[in-house]
Amino acid sequence: MLGRALILRTSALPFVEKMVRNSFVFRPLVHRFIAGDVLAESLEVSKGLLEHGLKVSLDYLGENTKSKEEALQAKATYIAMLRDIHRVAPKTSEDSVEPLNISIKLTQCGLDQGDDFAEENFREVLDVARETNNFVRVDMEASEYTERTVAMMERVLPDYPNTGTVLQSYLYRTDEDLERVIKLGGRIRLVKGAYLEPAEVAYPEKAKVDEAYMRQADRLLEAANYPAIATHDEHIIDHVKQFAKSRAISPDRFEFQMLYGIRRDLQNSLHEQGYNVRVYVPFGDKWYPYFTRRLAERPANAGFILKSLFKG
Ligand code: FDA
Repeated sequence: MLGRALILRTSALPFVEKMVRNSFVFRPLVHRFIAGDVLAESLEVSKGLLEHGLKVSLDYLGENTKSKEEALQAKATYIAMLRDIHRVAPKTSEDSVEPLNISIKLTQCGLDQGDDFAEENFREVLDVARETNNFVRVDMEASEYTERTVAMMERVLPDYPNTGTVLQSYLYRTDEDLERVIKLGGRIRLVKGAYLEPAEVAYPEKAKVDEAYMRQADRLLEAANYPAIATHDEHIIDHVKQFAKSRAISPDRFEFQMLYGIRRDLQNSLHEQGYNVRVYVPFGDKWYPYFTRRLAERPANAGFILKSLFKG
């Protein structure tokens, strides 16, 4: 069985990337996880999900901008997304939470070009989100950005309650970060963590990550503002349902989140049981890093790619 770390390392090799990007053989697999190249396609997909009673977070794919111009272009796309959402599926007075929001990355706002520059762009996006009654989630990236992301929340959240971030259970530091963001009243999405991290910063054992996840999910349910439990792990989902019931935490105080293309059956069944379920819908032509993280979570898919590689 291919390991997660091996898949992430192999897929980062330039010749593997070139092959996967250029070959049509992999297109069906890519399209399983990515809604399309352009915003209009992702909005079509979103409308279908909304009609089934699910909520959506749209993600414009891309990370680590190489120049300020690239970051400004990403900011313009985020703003266009918020304006289009306002037209297609605005939050109404009947909605306790926005049906369609957006997820962004700080390295796409220009974090590699400077914290102040990224913050300026981020605040502009948040101004438009406020104007359109919407919410902006900041995805969490590799551990070299964790402190800068949490610190950004500490600077920005007091001015913009319409944002929140993501914390990753595989990092040893997450229990403390959880308390920092809870204190600010920020909405937290809890995930296991998708990047290749060394044992100095993250648990290498899946069992330890799962244990941390359940402990942190319990804490969020008890103390946090509308947390998002983002996982496809049925054992954890059952634990969360039981915990919420045992503490009389009603289903409208939190939401489950899952990725587009993964466990649609579970998304629908949770919705039918009366839980809020949000689907994370990515779009854009810079899909490769996102795609490789999805492969690493499901070694069977990566095995298919490797076999094709060595067949020549
Ligand atoms: P786990 O990996 O244990 O999988 C549980 C089960 O889910 C598997 O047995 C399988 O059935 C199914 N499954 C999981 N992944 C699959 C895949 N790729 N293909 C097919 N089946 C799959 N990470 C991060 O570092 N920063 C972030 O900002 C985010 N954001 C984010 C948003 C949302 C809405 C979700 C659901 C996830 C993220 N993640 C993330 C990714 C997260 O860290 C994690 O890598 C994945 O969710 C997979 O972990 P699970 O919790 O599903 O458990």
